[in-house]
Formats: sequence, structure tokens, C-alpha cells
Amino acid sequence: MSRFALVTGASGGIGKAVCERLALDGFSVIATDLSAEDAQRVAAGLPGEGHCGYALDVSDEKGVGDLMKQIEAAHGALSVLVAAAGILILDDSGQRRAITETSIEEWSVTQQVNSTGTFLLLREFLRARRAHKIKGARFIGFSSVAAQLGGYRSSSAYIASKSAVLGLIRAGAREGAALDVAVNGVAPGLIDAPMLRLSLNPSQDAEIAQSIPQGRIGSPEDVAGAVAFLAGPDSAYITGSIIDVNGGYRMQ
Ligand SMILES: NC(=O)c1ccc[n+]([C@@H]2O[C@H](COP(=O)([O-])OP(=O)(O)OC[C@H]3O[C@@H](n4cnc5c(N)ncnc54)[C@H](O)[C@@H]3O)[C@@H](O)[C@H]2O)c1
Repeated sequence: MSRFALVTGASGGIGKAVCERLALDGFSVIATDLSAEDAQRVAAGLPGEGHCGYALDVSDEKGVGDLMKQIEAAHGALSVLVAAAGILILDDSGQRRAITETSIEEWSVTQQVNSTGTFLLLREFLRARRAHKIKGARFIGFSSVAAQLGGYRSSSAYIASKSAVLGLIRAGAREGAALDVAVNGVAPGLIDAPMLRLSLNPSQDAEIAQSIPQGRIGSPEDVAGAVAFLAGPDSAYITGSIIDVNGGYRMQ
């Protein structure tokens, strides 16, 4: 039986690495992002067969529901959904805003994409697996070490949105269990991907790496490896967990 995995934010730095890893692990990957062309380009470059790309704005309630129905009608039941899409809004000089400088627009848009988007994807995935149960389905959400630490230098909207994902993963794990859907997440630390590069110049890497026990910034492939574990057979008895992918930057 072919296994289908849908990835959101698939043309981003981490999302693309997740698509590549899941394709190598034998999944047919449905790559989605805001731009259909970008998603299709990612899908076309993956090893193996059966991949495709679609436009999806994760903050669009109707769009998420419609695409899930369209995909399941065209390809069959999804076994894995990876909610990697996310945004971080900075000010004009590339700095994270303090709470006192955060507009309601920045707050709302960030929640809408990062937390509401994850909710919409989880809800539609659970509905789909309730309608058509399959064995061992997986939902994997994206939080951040920023949520666990209270951020590095403010950006409360992002921190709060990624904290909501932590709670949603646990609530989803409880409800998903009866549907044989394991719901887990990853909390990346400092990862060499576009979102980090909005505010960190590579010339600062060596200095930052001194505060990371493993002594380096992470790679998108480091995160993709954790996602692959959560999507694969070895994590069958894990649900409601968050895997920290941070080189020891933050330990529980
Ligand atoms: N890079 C890091 O250091 C880091 C650290 C912790 C968590 N994360 C999380 O990892 C994920 C990927 O981060 P990245 O660094 O690869 O970022 P990125 O900016 O390269 O990728 C994010 C992707 O999400 C897409 N996207 C944005 N808004 C969307 C929407 N409304 N609907 C659908 N897609 C949308 C973008 O087009 C982009 O392709 C994000 O959820 C981010 O919060 C990243």
C-alpha cells in the first residue's frame, strides 16, 4: 500500500528537507505551500514516485477543508500530515518587536498562520481519519524552542503562537488516539533555514554556537530526521510528545 504524506510550507527551508526525507523513506509526498508553482517544483525534484504539489494557505479554513477532500479523493487516505508552514514577522530593521510595539495585525496574522493553521490542519486530518480509519496515522506539528524559552529577544506573537501548538499537540493526541492517529510535534532550535536568517547573519554563527552544547547551528536535515522518526514505524507508541531538535540549547 502506498503511503501518502502531506507537508505544508513545503518550499521553505525545513519543509523542503522534510519532503526530501519522507520521499527517501518511501512516502509519496504531497507538497503544499502558498505558491502552487513552488510546491510543484519541490515535488518534481523529489526522489521516487507519486509526488505532487498544490497551493495551500493554511490560514484559510475553506481552503484547508477543500484541499483535504480533493487530495483524499484523488490519492486515497493520507497517512501523515506535517504542519511545517509558519511565519515570523519582524520590524523594518529585522528586529523582533517588543510587546509594547506589537500591533494587533502582527498578533492576529501570526496566530492565524501558526496556531490556527495548525488547528485547521489537525481538525481536517482527524475528520478525514474518522471518516476513513487507517492504521497508524500521524500528525506532526511545528513548535519552536522560542515557545519553550520565552523567546530570545521578544516577538511575543510568534512565541504565543508556537506555545499554542504545544497545547494543541497534547489535546490532539488525546482525541486522536481513538482514531489511531498519533499527534506529536517538533520544537526546532536555531536552524540554518530562512526564518532564522531573517534575524541572524551567518557571520554571527560561531558566537551563537558557543551557547549550544553541540557547538553548531542545526540543519533542516536535523529537523527532517526527527519528523521522519515521528512519521515512521519506530514511533508507533509515542503520542503527545514534542521532540526538541536544538543541539542541547534548551533541555527539560
Ligand atoms: N528556522 C528556524 O530556526 C526555526 C526554529 C524553530 C521553528 N521553526 C519553524 O519551522 C518551520 C519552518 O521554518 P523555516 O525556517 O523553514 O521557514 P521558511 O520561511 O523557510 O518556511 C516557511 C514556509 O511556510 C510558508 N508559509 C507561510 N505562510 C503560509 C501560509 N499562510 N500557508 C501556507 N504556507 C505558508 C512559506 O511560504 C514558507 O515556504 C516554521 O513553522 C517555523 O516556525 C524554524
